[in-house]
Amino acid sequence: MSKDAFKIAEEISTKLDAATISDAAGLEAFRIQFLGSKNEIKALFGEIKNVANERKKEFGQTVNALKNKAEGIFEKGQGALENTASATAHANLDLSRPTVPNPRGSTHPVTIVLNKVISIFERIGFTVAEEREIEDDWHNFTAMNTPDDHPARDMQDTFYLKNSIDRLLRTHTSSVQARVMTSQQPPIRIIAPGRVYRNETISARSHCQFHQVEGLFIDKNVSFADMKQTLMYFAKEMYGPDTDIRLRPSYFPFTEPSAEMDVWMGTATDEAYRLTKGTGWLEVLGCGMVDPNVLSNCNIDPEIYTGFAFGIGIERTALQKYGINDIRMLFENDLRFLKQFNSAI
Ligand code: PHE
Repeated sequence: MSKDAFKIAEEISTKLDAATISDAAGLEAFRIQFLGSKNEIKALFGEIKNVANERKKEFGQTVNALKNKAEGIFEKGQGALENTASATAHANLDLSRPTVPNPRGSTHPVTIVLNKVISIFERIGFTVAEEREIEDDWHNFTAMNTPDDHPARDMQDTFYLKNSIDRLLRTHTSSVQARVMTSQQPPIRIIAPGRVYRNETISARSHCQFHQVEGLFIDKNVSFADMKQTLMYFAKEMYGPDTDIRLRPSYFPFTEPSAEMDVWMGTATDEAYRLTKGTGWLEVLGCGMVDPNVLSNCNIDPEIYTGFAFGIGIERTALQKYGINDIRMLFENDLRFLKQFNSAI
């Protein structure tokens, strides 16, 4: 009898050797036959009662070995099938099919213009200085040569913080000039992009919040000609190589002399005519030589150093650039409007 049990084991082993698994059905059949709940190897354990006592141990080991062998064959077969499956999937890939469209966001026009201005000045060695939007009176006004009783304070209607006469939302990025000059000595060459606030009635032309980029250059022997050259470079980079500029005398408390820069658009196209109100000239920024009072307010010796500053209105530039006629569009986040912009300018 015991001989039979070993014989059956041998037969199962031969069957295992002969087994070929070529597809999922074959794999499943193999699993049921050798590893399932009523499989042949398990049944073989039942034969142990017919095995002579001294060979029972040997028989147990034989059956265990069969079980391991069956498991090995099953795993190998399964792995091979998975490999073929993924190879077939690859073979069926159509690489020329269009992909599922991936919705792309667009850059806000204010950001596009801001980035453009920053990169133009970075190329000639200006570094970006960012500062707080909640300022104190001194940095926003007094240091900028606009003391309490100065009539120029009326030029910029100010939001003060509740219960405070000293804390306000900065009305211009010129406050960054004071922050930078009081914390470092010349040479200074910075641009300060950021949001500013003015208590103005919101209309198509003006908003209570907008963006500016401030520029400040302070060193020995900095002249008005240096400023003009720098701004000329900016205008050509921003508006095209043939752009002409003109500087008109103006007034700011913190610069002397002060100027406003216009760029020549001409009147040839309807668009240019409308933008320049028929003059051909478009106003783009305010600038001037830093007033010696501002330098000494900020502990920089005006006998040794001179400098120039300028302030560019970003929304105004974006409106001009894209022919948008209402500044409120820039703050309403209407996707139908925003989707029209990409990052190219
Ligand atoms: N701060 C001025 C404004 O907001 C702009 C300006 C900056 C003018 C620097 C001159 C120099 O109108």
